[in-house]
Amino acid sequence: MQKNNSFWLNSFKLNNFNKLDKNIDVDICIVGGGITGITTTYYLSKQGYKVALIEKDTLMSKTSGHTTAKITSQHGIFYKYLFDCQGKEFAYKYLEANEKAINNIKNIIETENIECDFERKNAYVFTEKINEVQKIKEEAHTVKKLGLVDCELVNKIDLPINIESAIEFKNQAQFNPIKYSNGLISKIIENNGMIFENTKFEDYEKNNEIFKVITNKKYSINSKYLILTTRYPIINFPGYYFLKMYQEISYVIAIKPKNTIKFDGMYINSEKPTVSIKTAKYNNEDIVLIAGYNNKTGEDIDLRYKYEELKKKAKEIFGEFELLYEWNTEDCITLDKIPYIGDFSNFSNNLFVATGFEKWGMTTSNISANIITDKINNKTNKYENIFKATRLEAIKNHQELNNMIKQSIKSLVIDKFKNYTDVIDNVKNNEGKIVMFGDVKVGIYKDPDGNVYAVKPFCTHLGCELTWNDLNKTWDCPCHGSRFEYTGKSIYSPSIKNLENYNFE
Ligand SMILES: Cc1cc2nc3c(=O)[nH]c(=O)nc-3n(C[C@H](O)[C@H](O)[C@H](O)COP(=O)(O)OP(=O)(O)OC[C@H]3O[C@@H](n4cnc5c(N)ncnc54)[C@H](O)[C@@H]3O)c2cc1C
Ligand code: FES
Repeated sequence: MQKNNSFWLNSFKLNNFNKLDKNIDVDICIVGGGITGITTTYYLSKQGYKVALIEKDTLMSKTSGHTTAKITSQHGIFYKYLFDCQGKEFAYKYLEANEKAINNIKNIIETENIECDFERKNAYVFTEKINEVQKIKEEAHTVKKLGLVDCELVNKIDLPINIESAIEFKNQAQFNPIKYSNGLISKIIENNGMIFENTKFEDYEKNNEIFKVITNKKYSINSKYLILTTRYPIINFPGYYFLKMYQEISYVIAIKPKNTIKFDGMYINSEKPTVSIKTAKYNNEDIVLIAGYNNKTGEDIDLRYKYEELKKKAKEIFGEFELLYEWNTEDCITLDKIPYIGDFSNFSNNLFVATGFEKWGMTTSNISANIITDKINNKTNKYENIFKATRLEAIKNHQELNNMIKQSIKSLVIDKFKNYTDVIDNVKNNEGKIVMFGDVKVGIYKDPDGNVYAVKPFCTHLGCELTWNDLNKTWDCPCHGSRFEYTGKSIYSPSIKNLENYNFE
């Protein structure tokens, strides 16, 4: 069994790209090499723009390489909420944009001849609880009223689970996201697009309408347009995304049941904790991915039971199985649950963003790529107002906003005054803790051999106190979800800088 290792990234090896090793001038600089950055670079390079995509680590190595890869307009129970809050036309357009994205992906696969295990599948939201049935019925009723997708209310699904009710969306899809992105990457190179790995955006300046992106290699990229596809935006001002978004970690296991797999759809339950179930191709055979049990990043809770719960669920449904992989990753959630796509702010021309996909980024990455490409071409996109990133309405969601602000104040202010009683000798091997050295807080991790790694346990984004994630051996930020290796290396945005290290000697 492979711990902390994504099945997708092992299923196909992407080519590596060099670091940026000189200053360059391009039309467009795209920052972040996940599925959103790669898709956007693909569309723009195809239209003849001179593009450079920079990735701080390796392509697809973050959320996109750790997804479950359902390509669907069925985003849990969502359309009743959209309809009620935003009206029928809005809900219709959201659904239409996502349905169109499924077809766009299929068309790209066909026209570019990409071998990526694309399969049409029906998608289901089901419930095992009687008190959730009304919710499912109302959702089905709303989606039928919108009328764009072939949708049914059913009381039986292929999975051996006694469900109370389910809503079925026909003709959705799944694929291997790494093989798909490999196809796009080949086309970017054919279209003379440039890709640089291990090249981190550290800062930028703007002079005479030209962006100068400063990278960790000290070389820079001059461009007319700048696109942030770093999942959580790495520029704080004037976008203020840290006031309108947070991140959640979800967990995935890949299993091979001993009995033959007899189901064909893609499933997610309507209740909490979330459980999502689907197949994936593994050496031309089907395996099963089970995901869910999400929590807010940096929450101070015991995470060790997460995989155990998923395995318990797997056993309940499939009986005996071989565990192949387990991994986890995070995604961004906006205050109104609708992604932010388009202009970064009202005060920054030609700077674009795509974020807040709430674990539905396979379709929304395609929507983002199209909206941003149209913006650069000065073309109106039918869906740009649905996803408008500069909207303020989200902040009207007082409950989510209050929760976020409370958490930030706790971690930024209250926790800063919290003292810890532990000293370094109390930290066991393979354990991490914040300890006191006089009145200084130090984040300590001792590896299984007793080697000590000491960091300043405050986030390099906006200074919140970090919590130790014992499952991944990372320092996680409860404010906006940055994550750092125990060595202090920044892994997940919005942080850019690594944590400061302490040297005991
Ligand atoms: C467990 C789980 C399951 C999911 N399943 C599904 C699903 O079934 N269907 C679905 O539609 N969606 C799903 N999602 C959501 C989907 O995977 C994401 O929304 C999507 O992958 C996000 O893609 P991205 O390109 O925006 O971000 P990422 O893939 O995270 O890419 C961002 C990139 O930016 C880079 N970067 C960050 N900072 C810098 C910097 N300073 N300089 C340069 N590069 C930088 C990062 O290294 C990273 O590679 C799931 C999410 C999770 C957590
Ligand atoms: S991620 Fe914003 S303060 Fe840590």
